[in-house]
This record gives sequence, structure tokens and C-alpha cells, in this order.
Amino acid sequence: MSLKKYSRIYTQDDSLPASQAMLIGSGLSEEDLRKPFVGVCSTGFEGNTCNMHLDELANLVKQGMQGLGLVGLRFNTIGVSDGITNGNQGMRYSLVSREIIADSIEAMAGAHNYDALACVVGCDKNMPGSLIAMARLNRPGMMVYGGTIKGGNWKGQKLNIVSCFEAYGKKLKGEISEEDYKGVIKNACPGPGACGGMYTANTMASAAEALGMSVPYTSSVPAVSQEKKDECLQAGNYLRILLEQDLKPRDIMVREAFENAMVLITVLGGSTNAVIHLLAIASAAGVKLTIDDFQAVSRKTPVLADLKPSGKYLMEDLCSMGGVPAVMKTLLQEGLIVGDLPTVTGKTIAENLQNVKPLGQEQDLLRPLSNPIKADGHIQILYGNLAPKGSVAKITGKEGLKFEGPAKVFNSEEALNEGISTGEVKEGQVVVIRYVGPKGGPGMPEMLKPTSAIMGAGLGSKVALITDGRFSGGTHGFVIGHVCPEAYDGGPLALVEDGDWITLDIATNSIHLHVDETLLQERRQRWTRPAFNAQRGVLLKYAKTVSEASSGCITDLDETSN
Ligand code: FES
Repeated sequence: MSLKKYSRIYTQDDSLPASQAMLIGSGLSEEDLRKPFVGVCSTGFEGNTCNMHLDELANLVKQGMQGLGLVGLRFNTIGVSDGITNGNQGMRYSLVSREIIADSIEAMAGAHNYDALACVVGCDKNMPGSLIAMARLNRPGMMVYGGTIKGGNWKGQKLNIVSCFEAYGKKLKGEISEEDYKGVIKNACPGPGACGGMYTANTMASAAEALGMSVPYTSSVPAVSQEKKDECLQAGNYLRILLEQDLKPRDIMVREAFENAMVLITVLGGSTNAVIHLLAIASAAGVKLTIDDFQAVSRKTPVLADLKPSGKYLMEDLCSMGGVPAVMKTLLQEGLIVGDLPTVTGKTIAENLQNVKPLGQEQDLLRPLSNPIKADGHIQILYGNLAPKGSVAKITGKEGLKFEGPAKVFNSEEALNEGISTGEVKEGQVVVIRYVGPKGGPGMPEMLKPTSAIMGAGLGSKVALITDGRFSGGTHGFVIGHVCPEAYDGGPLALVEDGDWITLDIATNSIHLHVDETLLQERRQRWTRPAFNAQRGVLLKYAKTVSEASSGCITDLDETSN
């Protein structure tokens, strides 16, 4: 079987002399034209720790293909830093960037007929964006994660990106000196790598490893390490295997692989963003997955890992204890994941883990099943008259299982930030942040700045937050996001008024607004849909095409999609 299934159109067809001329003009030899073309995509760019080193890693991936009979062809696409954009209007582009990444990789590989893809990615939306593209194209491909950042340090205090937001909360309360505030900011990000806790990037990197779309260890090996360089240099070997076996993303990302990914991120206490991302990747892969599948996994899967944001450890700590493969080995031995599934190594998950040692008694990062941090999953799907199409809560158990109180409503993140700093947000309230959904934002921005400020202001365990926006993987506290339908679509969230009583009950998976239907109906009649919060460009295009959060915020959904 020819490994040049796609690119031969350009290189072997006499009627396309311009294609061959341009390829030769760009440095390929005639011998190269006979080899399979592998698109080596990087989401590298300057000005963000998660992405600053990715071009270098992508060059190593290309370098590693020499002598393997493959031609690596580098190209770039974009990224949006969640850490930088959180708390301002730039954040609206973050989830949008997932679609731009997916669309641009699809366009590059589709247009240039690459036979395979290696996607070197590093920040929250990079991983799902590249996996969506690979699932759409369904050509041999693998994801290479840029790796996790090292922890920072200030006066003996271990730091990560979320420390900055929490320091800001302390600054508002006058509990931190200017020197210490600046010290935290200057030392939180000591070099390249994605945010170091079990936030969205490390969650999605771990999910990709469990899906089988990246090699073992990729999600826990730090960005700055010889192991990361070696992983990049080895990628060509795996791409060669994938091409020879004609093993494609949709052969790997099957329904059971998504179940493995959901189990792993539950055990690790991963980000709620994984819900929308896995829904979107599954849709691109033609796998039926719904928010109720997350609840089903949560019902039978405990949280075992003591990782940040709610726990003690960073991803680099897990790496030194055996990494994600050691966790997966434990899960495999306990029968929590399926081992007989293909991966990008050409071997099954069980074969990849054959010589891996599970995490033992000598560490306290991963608890045994007999003594979990939480007996069921932290990702809980809530329904009720406030979220008839579902919502997503992240409950680690430390927040309690029930919260009720009067609503305090804000129509934007900025208004909430103002409300926190002026003391409008008070103990006992259920804080509502609305019109920040996929269409309303647009782009469903993350609420890390207000949630961190609430933590810093000492209200973390004293208020609950509900929103049609998202929460960062770095958020903790009693928080419920992804409320569907969103306020912009006239969902019940749009009808809440200050003082309305709201009950959030994890034990019954319910989210209830205690306002009688007649009054709600009156409010509904008075309600008018606001104008799109974007007048032109990609945000407007996104707002017009995006599906609701409960179906993954997908922009290419049609009646045949899942
Ligand atoms: Fe890139 Fe956090 S900002 S992983």
C-alpha cells in the first residue's frame, strides 16, 4: 500500500506541473517528492509561556523524520493564551481560537494533501483544536504536547499562574504587601510550558494521552526537559508506524477511548472545560457523546489525585512519580479503563503500559481507591428550571454538596469584578454572571478573574457562582457553568432578578430557581434579546454559528453531526 495516499496527487500527476515546481522550488528533491508528506503543525508564538517553545519542538519533530522516508513540512497556526486574556475582553477569543485552530489545520492539510499530521500544541484550546482537525481529516496523525511549566517560587511559597489572581484578591483586601504582590507576578511563570496545575491544558493533554492520540508520558513530561526533546525526535517513528498500519484518528478515538479519557480526567480532578472539548472532539470523530455520559462516569469514578487547583500538587510533581502512565496503569489494574484499544504508538493502551509501574504507597498524590478524595466524580451535570438543557458543576467535595441563597445578578464579568471590589458581593449569595455564553460573550469567556478574586477576598466557601460562561481549569469553589440555554438565547438565567432564591443541590443534580412560573412568564414577556456583542469579524461569525455548550460549542454542527 502506498503511504502517499493524498500527496501523490501533487507529486505524481503529470498534469500538475505547477505543484511539483513549487514543491521543488521550496527545497524538496525529486526523491522527496516520492515520500509521504507529513504536515508538522505548531501553535507556537512569542509572548506566551505555553507556546513560546513550540516552534523549536516542531523543528525537532521534523528533524526526527530524517532517514525515515518521510518529508516533514512545517506550518503554524494560532493560539490564544487563556492566562493572559482571562479577565478582559480578549478572553472572548479563547474558545473561538479552538475553532480557528481546527479550521486552519484542516485547511492546510486538506489543501496541501498531507498524508499525515503531527500537531505540536501547548495551551488550553490548542489540544482540542488539533484533535478536532485530525478527527475531521481522519488521516494518520498524532498530537505532541509542549509540556507543563515548572512551578514558580516566592519566599518559599510555591507558585503557579492562579497564584497571581489569588494575590490580586488579597491585594483588594489589603492582605499582601506591594513587594510580595510583585514578587508573585515576577516568579509565577519561570519559563516555557503550559500552566502547571490540573488546569485545562494539562487536563486536555492527559485526555489526549488516554484517548491514545499522543504517546505515553507526553502530558506529564515538563516543557523544559531532555525527555520532551526526545519525545519530539521520536514522533517520526510513530508517524511512520501509523502510515504503514493506516491507523487513523477515528480508529483510535472510538467511544471506549472517550470513556477512558473521561475516567482519567475524573480521577485527576480535571477541568470542566474537558466537557465541551471532548463533546466537540467526539462529534468530529463521529462518536456519540453527551453531557449525560460525563455524569455516568462521575457516578462510578472517584477523584483520587491531590492536584491543583483544589489540591496540593502540580503536574511536574506527578511526572517525578511516574507520570500519567503510572496513573493509567493503576486504573487499568483496577478495571476502570479499557486496555484493548489502539494508540498512536501502533500498540494498545495495555501494551503501552506493560512495563509501567503503578503509583505505590510511597506517595500521597494519588490516593488508593479505598480512600478517595471524593467517592464520585467532581464533574456533575445539573438540570432544573434554571438549566433545562443542563449545566456543569465542578465539585471536589471541599465546597459541600448544597448551596442555597439569594441571587446577586451581574450582566457581564466586568460588572461582577466591580461588584467584588466595591463589596456588593456578600456572603451567602448565589452570584449569577450571565450573557457570557457561547453566543452572548461571544466565546463563552472563562471567569477566572472573578472566581480568584472571590477566593482572595475570603468568600470562596461563602458564595456560589452560576454562569452561562465557563470556568477556568484553575477555578475552584462552588461554581456551576455552561448553563443551557444561555441567557442570550432567552434561557431562564436571563429571567433571574436580585434576591430570587436559588438552590444548587449536587446530591440531586439539580439547579432550581424558586420563582413561580406565572411570574417567570411575565418576566419572559418583558425580556428582549440584546444585540450581538460583536459587530464584525470572527466573533460575530462565531456567535452566529456556535452550538450551545451542552453540545460542545461546535461551529460545524449540522443535522448529520452528533
Ligand atoms: Fe496556556 Fe494556561 S494559559 S495553559
